[in-house]
Amino acid sequence: MGLKRKDVLGLEELAAGEITLILDTAESMKDIITRTIKKVPALRGRTMLTLFYEPSTRTRTSFELAGKYLSADVTSIATATSSVTKGETLKDTVRNIEVMGTELVVMRHPAGGAPHFLAQRVKAAVVNAGDGMHEHPTQGLLDMLTIRQRKGGFKGLRVAIIGDIYHSRVARSDIWGLRKMGAEVVVAGPSTLLPPFAEELGVKASTRVEEALEGADVVNVLRLQLERQQKGLLPTLREYTRRWGVDRERLALAKRDALLMHPGPMNRGVEITTEVADGPHSVILDQVTNGVAVRMAILFLLLGGEAA
Ligand code: CP
Repeated sequence: MGLKRKDVLGLEELAAGEITLILDTAESMKDIITRTIKKVPALRGRTMLTLFYEPSTRTRTSFELAGKYLSADVTSIATATSSVTKGETLKDTVRNIEVMGTELVVMRHPAGGAPHFLAQRVKAAVVNAGDGMHEHPTQGLLDMLTIRQRKGGFKGLRVAIIGDIYHSRVARSDIWGLRKMGAEVVVAGPSTLLPPFAEELGVKASTRVEEALEGADVVNVLRLQLERQQKGLLPTLREYTRRWGVDRERLALAKRDALLMHPGPMNRGVEITTEVADGPHSVILDQVTNGVAVRMAILFLLLGGEAA
């Protein structure tokens, strides 16, 4: 059974049953990643493209590996060395690639809604790999897979998301997904970085990190998005770290078996200490591995591949 939709654009639009289908499929894909021969013929002869208008290490690499592990033909456009620099539009860029036979486009773009715009204008499936401050659905799904593997489910869990909520597409996707699956979500950060949407989605927001961490089952520390800050939103970095940084003492407020997560890339010493990031609660590298499995699942389910 595949996903009964052309595109994956956000967790806001995915039903709980679709999220479960993706997570279950990702579980079965994970086995492939650990084999010596990491290749199954599920998407043999199928063609996909990664098109990133913003930098990426984890998302782009894991989508490309996911396609290769499933035997798809994977091409990539580095926008800095493409005709995008000559002013070619997003729609023209993808339509030209589409007529070469590409069936699925994985796209990251600085503008919220760019993948939705594209999805309505091309026949190819579109997967959102992060659009502005809007959503990062595959990050949300890999976070959920990591939590489900360690905690067995979502109902009754308290998930604390700490830091720069305002600029975070990861926070938005996590909130949509976790709330749909029955988890309680609390967020904490400077008042200038707490968006009004959090409380509209049934999420408790606090400016006190300690309040959010108290009794948490999962602590997800967000990257402080220095490249997106506008004047006046942020105190000094030292002040940010002093009041909202997650260190050993603060993490001790969470449950003894709490998971410590971060989507990466980390600003070590700013939003998270190295001691915590590399400590016993950390599942940060598990998140990265799960990212490959989740992306394999989405490619497989959208392209309707043969059973792996
Ligand atoms: N978490 C994440 O999106 O990382 P990249 O920016 O490296 O893809």
